[in-house]
Amino acid sequence: MQTQEINLNSKEDTRELARKIAKQLVKGSVLALYGQLGTGKTFFTQKLCKFLGVSEVVSSPSYVLMNEYRGKIPIFHLDLYRLTSWEEVLELGLEELFESGITIIEWPEVAEELLPPNTLKIKFNLQNNIRTAVISYN
Ligand SMILES: Nc1ncnc2c1ncn2[C@@H]1O[C@H](COP(=O)(O)OP(=O)(O)O)[C@@H](O)[C@H]1O
Ligand SMILES: [Mg+2]
Repeated sequence: MQTQEINLNSKEDTRELARKIAKQLVKGSVLALYGQLGTGKTFFTQKLCKFLGVSEVVSSPSYVLMNEYRGKIPIFHLDLYRLTSWEEVLELGLEELFESGITIIEWPEVAEELLPPNTLKIKFNLQNNIRTAVISYN
């Protein structure tokens, strides 16, 4: 596994990261976004979706669990923060979602075991006003 740490000193840095990541995504790609509340997972997703050709407004799926957007490829944006039981996780039918488009998951910990081996993982951090992201991929 390879990891890379980058600074996200500004929103523009996050946008630039989104631009780079967007180029790597294809149908079947899974992106897991880790990090505490307010670290920028949804903001990053909004920028990413722009680069993936989404013209709709991208909002946080924390209450609805999942939003679906029409980009060049269908995009599924999930937030699993509120899920506590394994049954609820299974009900999402993640495996079928994964193969139908690009899947972006905030708070993916609860579904960790279901993530494909080639999942691109980004851990967002915000400490002492310093934002960083650690990207890991196989
Ligand atoms: N690189 C950045 N620089 C400055 N502010 C940022 C950056 N990334 C995100 N933000 C801001 O942080 C706030 C919280 O981001 P959000 O994406 O909602 O966090 P999360 O989804 O991780 O809870 C938003 O107001 C967003 O504009
Ligand atoms: Mg969020």
